Amino acid sequence: MNVGIIGSGGREHAICASLRKSGKIKEIYCFPGNAGTSFIAKNTEADLTNFEELKKLIQKLKIDLIIIGPEKPLVDGMVDFLKKNKIKVFGPSKIASQLEGSKIFTKNLCKKYNIPTANFGVFNNVKESLLFLDKCEFPIVVKADGLAAGKGVYICETLEHSVNAIKEIFNGKFGVAEKVLIEEFLEGEEMSFFIISDGENYKKFGSAQDHKRVLEGDKGKNTGGMGAYSPSRLESEDLNKKILEKIVEPTLKGLKDLDTDFVGFLYAGLMIIKNEPFLIEYNVRMGDPECQTILPRLKTDLLEVIDACINKNLKEIKLDWFDEKSICIVLCSKGYPDKYQNNIEIKKLEKIKLEDNSYIYHAGTKIKDSKVYSNGGRVLNFVTKSKNLKESRNDLINLINDLNWENGFFRKDIGFKIFE
Ligand code: AMP
Ligand code: GLY
Repeated sequence: MNVGIIGSGGREHAICASLRKSGKIKEIYCFPGNAGTSFIAKNTEADLTNFEELKKLIQKLKIDLIIIGPEKPLVDGMVDFLKKNKIKVFGPSKIASQLEGSKIFTKNLCKKYNIPTANFGVFNNVKESLLFLDKCEFPIVVKADGLAAGKGVYICETLEHSVNAIKEIFNGKFGVAEKVLIEEFLEGEEMSFFIISDGENYKKFGSAQDHKRVLEGDKGKNTGGMGAYSPSRLESEDLNKKILEKIVEPTLKGLKDLDTDFVGFLYAGLMIIKNEPFLIEYNVRMGDPECQTILPRLKTDLLEVIDACINKNLKEIKLDWFDEKSICIVLCSKGYPDKYQNNIEIKKLEKIKLEDNSYIYHAGTKIKDSKVYSNGGRVLNFVTKSKNLKESRNDLINLINDLNWENGFFRKDIGFKIFE
């Protein structure tokens, strides 16, 4: 069969590489993909906001199944559109994608179904928000409602910072804002927890620890993710049970009560406090870079798993995982997450020798005249799986040093909490 993958990041390259192991696939098309996917699939330019054109392209290329990586097309309703046009697609519907598309939708669901989360208030304008601030103890968290590419969240230590955040949001920094969310600050350790669901049944799909801050020791600005390891050091049977019973299952029931269901990957961003899970946010897709650490650990054929979801048959599939742990370090462009330069050649990439169990997944890269250039803030994901995460991390650092890309920087301390 022919498969299409929507997206161009490290997550999509990892999905592409995982699908390549399946004997049943003839061709993979990536919309638009990156330099990494161009070596194992066909990169295809398409305007992802023009669903009609995309449909025609999918039909012309005789693609049997579309897998959607990032949140934007999901929240925009690409799944509903493709399904209506009889194209097989893996991902949640537009309504179910509100779990990520609207933080307020998710908070209201939490309230209705008693899902543990930070206490919160929703405010309609600057004046109402500022009145509320008078009663707050700091720090607090101020959030824009809609998708903000990971940027619409302010952790505010002071009244002044909070006032600024609220004004920026209502002034339209993240698009038209009708409401703002103000939340209690939760102090604990974060965990990314995944399930896959066919709408009737779900299965746990691993956990990971992302490192979102740009600087070592979890300092500095928030980024899309500077590295991750899997499974999270916090995982235990007891905690998994609590997460599934207190958070995941009531959420899936909440969607059913709204006459919809969830098909796809669901990513719960959690804060774990004294072995109790609190929901920080939902994402309706795999995490990036978490996906790059989880898929190399999956033994079962990913295509079979996705196909089972589409056929509402996930119950029949047994997910097998390798025992090894995995770790990913993201090589970024200097300046990220602020201003950085694109179009800088990454030489020596083909000279990097990868052992079995090590992978380089491209993110912000593109290919021109057989040369690889940077094309984004997060550029390459270096991943390895082994029994010893510390040795793995050293191996990855050596690989990145061998590459010696002059425009790159990375965190050398991914997983530091395990080794402290
Ligand atoms: P989000 O976009 O909702 O994932 O928020 C980005 C990051 O902000 C999260 O990964 C957390 O590190 C932090 N964060 C969000 N909400 C809270 C909260 N209520 N308490 C503490 N940290 C939070
Ligand atoms: N790793 C964070 C995210 O995928 O949103």
